[in-house]
Amino acid sequence: MTHILHRQIRQDYPRAATARGLYIHDKDGKAYLDASGGAAVSCLGHGHPDVVAAMHAQIDTLAYAHTSFFTTDAAEELADDLIAHAPAGMSHVYLVSGGSEAIEASLKLARQYFVEKGQPQRRHFIARRQSYHGNTLGALAVGGNEWRRKQFQPLLIETHHVSPCYEYRGRRDDETAEQYGQRLADELDAQIRTLGPDTVIAFVAETVVGATSGAVPPVPGYFRKVREVCDRHGVLLILDEVMSGMGRTGTLHACQQEGIAPDLMTIAKGLGGGYAAIGAVLVGGKIMDAISAGSGLFQHGHTYIGHPVSCAAALAVQRVIRRDKLLDNVVRQGDLLQRRLRERFGNHHHVGDIRGRGLFQGIELVEDRGEKKPFDPAVKLNARIKAEAMARGLLVYPMGGTIDGARGDHVLLAPPFIVQPQDIETIVERLGGAIDAAIAGVRG
Ligand SMILES: Cc1ncc(COP(=O)(O)O)c(C=O)c1O
Repeated sequence: MTHILHRQIRQDYPRAATARGLYIHDKDGKAYLDASGGAAVSCLGHGHPDVVAAMHAQIDTLAYAHTSFFTTDAAEELADDLIAHAPAGMSHVYLVSGGSEAIEASLKLARQYFVEKGQPQRRHFIARRQSYHGNTLGALAVGGNEWRRKQFQPLLIETHHVSPCYEYRGRRDDETAEQYGQRLADELDAQIRTLGPDTVIAFVAETVVGATSGAVPPVPGYFRKVREVCDRHGVLLILDEVMSGMGRTGTLHACQQEGIAPDLMTIAKGLGGGYAAIGAVLVGGKIMDAISAGSGLFQHGHTYIGHPVSCAAALAVQRVIRRDKLLDNVVRQGDLLQRRLRERFGNHHHVGDIRGRGLFQGIELVEDRGEKKPFDPAVKLNARIKAEAMARGLLVYPMGGTIDGARGDHVLLAPPFIVQPQDIETIVERLGGAIDAAIAGVRG
């Protein structure tokens, strides 16, 4: 009998007891290879001694000081570090406790920016279908996953959604990737014009779409065109790199590979690597300038923002990644992972697409490859794959509703940056067994 309101109340969860490196052990002693870092969180693996030591040192010195009274060395040093490596134009950091909080803060900052600038009529956000930005009401409103939004719809702020950049299903046979990207940018442009350009606050997008679509990268040039559209109308660009950022795709920020910088950017999961609850908004200089020329305060705040222990953990995670040159390993092992996935599943009858960047890879399952027909959602293929993988001692992150919130299944892989070739072999082998067993189960 549990008193926790678990995610699924009819499910029995094994109890995680200890964890080290790539492995989590449950209370019965079973070991699980963590090939998704939870939900793309544990970028350094588990129990990293440098991070643990930094957190101990911080707790021994100062565990907490409220940010309306004090700043701390831990928060200041983390902010310096993040800005030193931020995309062009970023000047400040707003430290929060996770991804949804980061999105909420970025939406409010964007709105306040225009109020400070004397444009209070700007009130619309545009985002994309099939993206995930978090579960609090503002984040859910900009998110585009129908299943998650549906029952809460009456409570959500009005948001407008355009097409995702989803090449496997969205690009027409008669257009190039370049033309597809242009068509999507034109759609955004048209949406802004329909709403009235001087009423739109921002366009919000995941640089590489994670949880709801399974590591879907943009087509080349898409974000450059989006940046141009936003600039043309004075609309802010908010990039959500909560999942795809902080090294996951092989560069510290996923947008570096797009050759653009946003006005606001959210980061979280890999920032603290699971050692502490932390997220952040990287804030563009022009937004800070407007606030300092105006009210001089961001009208927001939570009790645990800038928590010193979380900041110490995040700083230690980022220092280890740099010291150990782990982004080189993300690129190397990411290439290997994608190659091995293609070898194992490239001709698989039920794998329609393999995609991703760095150690952020997705596999989309289909009943029929030729027609890209998804499995019947009622058979819950993604849940079966998760269970079969766990039975084989493998943690992956499968999800349903890939196509439209209801249909489609994918598996997301996001192993820690310390993964080695022999681990990749184990991941691909166990995943192959899990997918085949799950599909055999569906076939009866
Ligand atoms: C892109 C993206 N944004 C926001 C969030 C919400 O983050 P959190 O679960 O930390 O609130 C997530 C979580 O999966 C995410 O993937």
